[in-house]
Amino acid sequence: MGTSWWHGGVLYQIYPRSFADGNGDGIGDLEGLIGRLDYLEWLGVDGIWLNPIHPSPNVDWGYDVSDYIGVHPDLGTLEDVDRVVAEGERRGIRVLLDLVPNHTSNRHPWFRERPDFYVWSDEIPNNWRAIFGGGLAWTLDPEQGRYYLHNFAPEQPDLDWWNPEVGAEFERILRFWFDRGIAGFRIDVCHALIKDRELRDDPETTQGVQRVFSMNRPETHEILRGWRALADAYDPHRVLLGEAYVLDVNEWARYYGSGSDELNLAFGFALLHADLDADQMCGVVAETEAALPTGAWPCWTGSNHDIGRLATRWCHGDGALARCALLVLLTLRGTPCLYYGDELALAAGRVPPERVLDCADPPRDPGRTPMPWTRQGGWRDPWLPLEDTSRNVEDQLADPDSTLHFTRDLIALRRRLPDLQTGAYLELPAPEGAWAWRRGEDVIVAVNLGSSPTEIGGIEGSIALATAGCRDGERVAGRLLLAPREGLIVVPPGSAS
Ligand code: GLC
Ligand code: CA
Repeated sequence: MGTSWWHGGVLYQIYPRSFADGNGDGIGDLEGLIGRLDYLEWLGVDGIWLNPIHPSPNVDWGYDVSDYIGVHPDLGTLEDVDRVVAEGERRGIRVLLDLVPNHTSNRHPWFRERPDFYVWSDEIPNNWRAIFGGGLAWTLDPEQGRYYLHNFAPEQPDLDWWNPEVGAEFERILRFWFDRGIAGFRIDVCHALIKDRELRDDPETTQGVQRVFSMNRPETHEILRGWRALADAYDPHRVLLGEAYVLDVNEWARYYGSGSDELNLAFGFALLHADLDADQMCGVVAETEAALPTGAWPCWTGSNHDIGRLATRWCHGDGALARCALLVLLTLRGTPCLYYGDELALAAGRVPPERVLDCADPPRDPGRTPMPWTRQGGWRDPWLPLEDTSRNVEDQLADPDSTLHFTRDLIALRRRLPDLQTGAYLELPAPEGAWAWRRGEDVIVAVNLGSSPTEIGGIEGSIALATAGCRDGERVAGRLLLAPREGLIVVPPGSAS
């Protein structure tokens, strides 16, 4: 297997409107991001993924794109993107953009000029349901007198990927950004591109509707293979990171193709949906490791702009658990993707009903609130409220025992230990509530997610990093004691420095 920068690297997801505001209008932007690249370099990330930066009426905050090769004026200009790329490169940080190929905005010129780019029907043809709003995925367009398909909001008509001209347009879009030095794409709902040609009903079961005809069609893999060939033709190869939102791990693993001809990376949604529980997580990882084809590389994340923040979802505000979660994400085999604020153990923001801006129910705004840079927040009238600044960059930078420093130390340790970057994963026996694994030859990670102290046998070495800092450097001779909500990394003596 050839190794690319992202195999051992750490990704960091940025929600541009909420990351950093360069011009003080309350909306995060590219200028603001450039101003924070030093922070990201200090943290040690290798790549950033930006949620959509394109012109958009913002019905779904950028996921309703009206121009794929432009930049939303709230966020900046094309020249600003070039500067993000160049300034990132100087700091060893690559830039991934978000590609939204399943649907456009209904205000994209294609919707009127190229109706053949979309999926139409004279009558409502089936039971497909929209993900937003809960109604049918078909809406009558008065101008056409026909119904168009929208798997998401009515303002997000689905493209017809059976039309080769749609594919040709997207090839142009990929090349446009790759030529500008973009390192790759996160691909939005990449499992949904092709719809059943006969528009058959999705089966409805007691667990709800199974989206097997409106999404998840086998022909989608062909499109991904084409993009992979395109990305691999660039030097350096561009990376494709897919949002294949498929919870069946075997079905999900198919988006890696043979292991080297479809996605390079796919978010592991099964882990994202698990609880922070040793049994559940260890099970998901075992299943994932077994399902992936040779050469395929997982991608782990605990938070994002849809599902919310790990500090709240997994840890219910418990700081010790948040460190355990970060330890897990950053030491499994695979590329970790942190969400801005994870490094502070940032919790979900409070967004009162009158400030809600999201179209989904429940709204996703609490996971999208502004990054607290200072004790005062560091924002003027931000677009989403920033109320709780108790966890902020300023304070945590000044405190060597903070979660921020812990995350940075963990990333630095990954850099020093090649086993932590690219070593194989081997599960080790551990008592209930605990989970332990080996990476490569001799790095051991152990975490106790339970509420009583525990002990793992057969472990030798010294503690290179622990969630409770006071244990760094401690020798382990056979028995490793773990307090509740504690995790650590054990290495052979002498290899941690
Ligand atoms: C993806 C995005 C989500 C968006 C949806 C529709 O799931 O992550 O934010 O609403 O696609 O584009
Ligand atoms: Ca701004």
